[in-house]
Amino acid sequence: MTTKRTFRVWRGDGDGELAQYEVEVNEGEVVLDILHRLQATQAPDLAVRWNCKAGKCGSCSMEINGRPRLSCMTRMSTFAPGETVTITPMRTFPVIRDLVCDVSFNYQKAREIPSFTPGADTAPGDFRMAQADVDRPQEFRKCIECFLCNNVCHVIRDHEENKEHFSGPRFLMRAAELEMHPEDTADRRKVSQEEFGLGYCNITKCCTEVCPENIKITDNALIPLKERVADRQYDPLVWLGTKIGLR
Ligand code: SF4
Ligand code: F3S
Ligand code: FES
Repeated sequence: MTTKRTFRVWRGDGDGELAQYEVEVNEGEVVLDILHRLQATQAPDLAVRWNCKAGKCGSCSMEINGRPRLSCMTRMSTFAPGETVTITPMRTFPVIRDLVCDVSFNYQKAREIPSFTPGADTAPGDFRMAQADVDRPQEFRKCIECFLCNNVCHVIRDHEENKEHFSGPRFLMRAAELEMHPEDTADRRKVSQEEFGLGYCNITKCCTEVCPENIKITDNALIPLKERVADRQYDPLVWLGTKIGLR
């Protein structure tokens, strides 16, 4: 069945405004289909980033009726008949144009995480890991880097001043993943707390709620990382080592 629906779409840069359109909607379509039809029929200059249309590239992140979502995975049947659908760019990152944001903040944060550091005596191919240690980070490897989790986290969503000190859930999860690797020798607990802003996270779990890959970011990555940081801070042997300059 084909119907006409009302859409309000952000046009322009950060100082842009919502423009209203009536667009045809067919059964089974997703929001990205509507944006493509809008480009084809009424707004050929509408900027929208997408790639796979299968929920796997992480490009089509935006806010739909105020909720961070992948537009290619949001079915029009999600909305009540007659409901106006409002589509805006992710709020946490600067808008380049229309629905396209500058997400370079995330790449900058990715570069700051110390990379995998195997022991000097361990040659590639010599790694031996228990299956449980393989399984645990496997969940984190499902990340498609849509950055919806970083977008929704209140620590930076409304606080530009925190961006310098907070890597966001996506990259704190990366730090946790490396910390859990049994062949890794680097200690990221101090930098996670002091430089990546782990302490700013008050486990509100909004990141977990919006993750399209259903990764349990808070329970399986952020809380375990916080526990490791606490162990480091309150372990009397570590405390003594710090005092006498061994750690
Ligand atoms: Fe997206 Fe989930 Fe990865 Fe965050 S953890 S970037 S929400 S896939
Ligand atoms: Fe932000 Fe997720 Fe922590 S939303 S406060 S990083 S649990
Ligand atoms: Fe690739 Fe939506 S277009 S995730």
